[in-house]
Amino acid sequence: MTDEKNEKKIPRHLAIILDGNGRWAKKRNLPRLMGHRAGLRKLEDMVRLVKREGIRYFSVYAFSTENWNRPLMEVTGLMRLFAYYLRRKVEEVKAEGARIRFCGRRDRIPEDLLKQMKWAEEHTKDEKILDFILCINYGGRAEIIDAVNSLIASKPNQPVTEDDLRKHFYLPDVPDPDLIIRTSGELRLSNFWLWESAYSEYYFTDIHWPDFGENELKKALADYAGRERRYGGLKS
Ligand code: FPP
Repeated sequence: MTDEKNEKKIPRHLAIILDGNGRWAKKRNLPRLMGHRAGLRKLEDMVRLVKREGIRYFSVYAFSTENWNRPLMEVTGLMRLFAYYLRRKVEEVKAEGARIRFCGRRDRIPEDLLKQMKWAEEHTKDEKILDFILCINYGGRAEIIDAVNSLIASKPNQPVTEDDLRKHFYLPDVPDPDLIIRTSGELRLSNFWLWESAYSEYYFTDIHWPDFGENELKKALADYAGRERRYGGLKS
């Protein structure tokens, strides 16, 4: 007999576009960075909740290749927030059985943050319950371009397959996202998991990221569980 948990459709890979920190702060007459801090606290809760749901891969879009165009003060503040998180919270994440991974270009990242990132990856590399993937300095187009260049260098002048290209992505072993949630009302992908989202399901909510809690997560997962995925095939 299958138990209820096995019957429930759970995404193997859940991806979230963390949007609305700025609007959350504006509504409260706070500086934007306070919104990002509130967003970080919410993310800390979310790692535990996602693990409890039995999700195996959890990725978040924390900083895109386009986010460098924001005012210097905001960019610096975000980089400091990432470094603070890695300095202070990695042990908690590891205690949950989560492996921290980063996805994106490593150029332009401040040296001290880069060091923290390498340490966090190394320190949690044997954890197997959840892969927590922080997409920082990530862009879907940049990933495809980087993969193409790396592939050309390794296999000059030969026809290539999708699988060949995939092997050159930032995290080739991570399965494509099954469900992509975007908070705060915008209905677009904004260069997140561009190739990998070919058959992802989407869930959009008006709630700003710092207000996205357990109930919202459960709603999104229930919605996903009710969908039929066909990958281009026929309706069953
Ligand atoms: C988008 O909201 C959010 C970001 C660009 C930053 C997200 C970062 C965090 C939640 C902190 C995460 C921390 C770690 C360690 C990963 P926005 O600023 O574009 O909001 P707006 O559209 O309302 O202005």
